Amino acid sequence: MKKNPLIPFAWTAVIGFILIIGVSFWAMQQGGEEEASGGKEGQKAEAAAPEEIYSQNCASCHGGDLGGQVGPALNAVGSKLSKDEILDIINNGKGSGMPAGLIQGEQAEAVAQWLSEKK
Ligand code: HEC
Repeated sequence: MKKNPLIPFAWTAVIGFILIIGVSFWAMQQGGEEEASGGKEGQKAEAAAPEEIYSQNCASCHGGDLGGQVGPALNAVGSKLSKDEILDIINNGKGSGMPAGLIQGEQAEAVAQWLSEKK
């Protein structure tokens, strides 16, 4: 069987194309981060609703509805832990499964406050 001599070139083109898409995607994300850390847009993101911060950083383990998944349910955590205790867990982690420092500063404060109201 005679091999099609164009096939290796076609592969090179396909791989090059994927690389270009990948790099532009990466560049877009870099740009997005810069935008988020400076200017008014960034301040808005910083003050995002605790629900949103939770769904981005915590829901994968604690469930989208606070009902628990890998981590325990948090839908009544406020009756068990105070805001400061929750903040301490956010900052320092807990046991082997709860990672420390996922969110910081204002975001951690806002989420701790919000969770402490779940009773
Ligand atoms: C990688 C999975 C994971 C993520 C992500 C995660 N947690 Fe946890 N979390 C756990 C596990 C597991 C525990 C139980 C730890 C233990 O008791 O040993 C826990 C425990 C907790 C507790 C204590 C609950 C109780 O009843 O004692 C709080 C509060 C908490 N997490 C809040 C958060 C918040 C807020 C976030 C997001 C910033 C978050 N967690 C993200 C896995 C996770």
